[in-house]
Amino acid sequence: MDARLDWSNEALFALAEDVLPGAGLGGYALPEDLRFVFAEGRGARLRDVEGRDYIDYVGGAGALILGHSHPAVVAAVRDQAARGLHMFGTLNAPAIRLAARLVEDIPCAEKIVYATTGSEATAYALRLARAFTGRDLVLKFEGAYHGNHDYALTSTFPTALGNDPHGQDDTAGRPAGTRTTMLVAPYNDAEAVARIVRDRGRELAAIIVEPVQRIIPARPAFLQALRRICDENGLLLIFDEVVTGFRLAYGGAQVHYGVTPDLASFGKVVGAGGPLSCVAGRAEVLDLCDPRRKGEPDYVYLNGTLHGNPVAAAATLALLDELAQPGTYERLNAFAERACAECQGVLDRHGLPAIAENTGSLWQILFTTKRPETQADILAGDGAAARRLDAECMKRGIYALPGVRRFFSTAHGEAELEDSLRILDAACAAVA
Ligand SMILES: Cc1ncc(COP(=O)(O)O)c(C=O)c1O
Repeated sequence: MDARLDWSNEALFALAEDVLPGAGLGGYALPEDLRFVFAEGRGARLRDVEGRDYIDYVGGAGALILGHSHPAVVAAVRDQAARGLHMFGTLNAPAIRLAARLVEDIPCAEKIVYATTGSEATAYALRLARAFTGRDLVLKFEGAYHGNHDYALTSTFPTALGNDPHGQDDTAGRPAGTRTTMLVAPYNDAEAVARIVRDRGRELAAIIVEPVQRIIPARPAFLQALRRICDENGLLLIFDEVVTGFRLAYGGAQVHYGVTPDLASFGKVVGAGGPLSCVAGRAEVLDLCDPRRKGEPDYVYLNGTLHGNPVAAAATLALLDELAQPGTYERLNAFAERACAECQGVLDRHGLPAIAENTGSLWQILFTTKRPETQADILAGDGAAARRLDAECMKRGIYALPGVRRFFSTAHGEAELEDSLRILDAACAAVA
């Protein structure tokens, strides 16, 4: 039988092995006994091609804060798709309306520029910062993820710490120049940042930071110190809000923390799961990419086929309407707190040295007894044990990538929590 006509998990996987490296779509390879292919998503659940259900905590890598196929988002997508999937080269109405909405809702946004992915948005933010300051170097933090481009892939997955400001390569194939233009510092350590800026400040264009680095929340004083250090040394402060934007709070982490960066990258929730992201920020920086400035020495080239995609813009407008309803974040975050407390109860009953950690709706089970405040705390935990437990959960119907931070959505409710606790209990028994 032609494998392309056979929709069993096994046949699809065999086909994927032939045509996709590692039979995957990116950076994750699941264990051999966890092979399934998703067919559909509804609310907080996913179903594979053989009809098995999973409670979804991956949420499209955090994009799906309302869960899968929210009716308001689906209606907006249908409506816009019927009028045209894409228009390139000039304006479309949803893109303008969304830009106006984001400028209203994001504290740092005097203007926005569109991109397609979170990675592209962070790459654009770095380019803009370099052009604005006339400096080349950028400081990032050990353990921070800013996407898949050559600049970002510095010390994202550090195996050892303490060699700052020199980072580690995360990938083969980076040109040496991208390695030497990225400096690194320990997260949540304002003194280390001040030391590096004292030594190299005149070469630095920007500091880029995740306001919640994976699962580690920034100490408020840390972000305030970054703001001060940037101001005193002529650096731009860039928040990577690809995850935290409209997730930690409506408007982003900058609303939650009350610290306003110069530039911020948004994606995932902004995009509603579609091909749309953006850089928000100070007009005098973003105006460097005004195409009427072509030919000027500090003109910044930003362009992409899908920039301002009207379907994704319409979907995001519908999603923001839902998120702006009073009480949305209070309810979502309270649910996450309670769910993690109940998961903690299960872990404790089994005597596992693990914590169910959350910051708002971001959460993860870590094999450590201390809430992580630094990347060193993360490295000190037992990552292999966490991955084992997550894999046992996945076998039983929880979709959360082993060892990776995960998300609650507004679609998670009592039924999902009850099922999750039952599955976690069985998974704990399996690993204990
Ligand atoms: C903080 C952060 N920045 C940037 C990115 C890259 O976004 P994308 O995968 O859309 O390119 C991600 C993706 O997970 C992210 O978590």
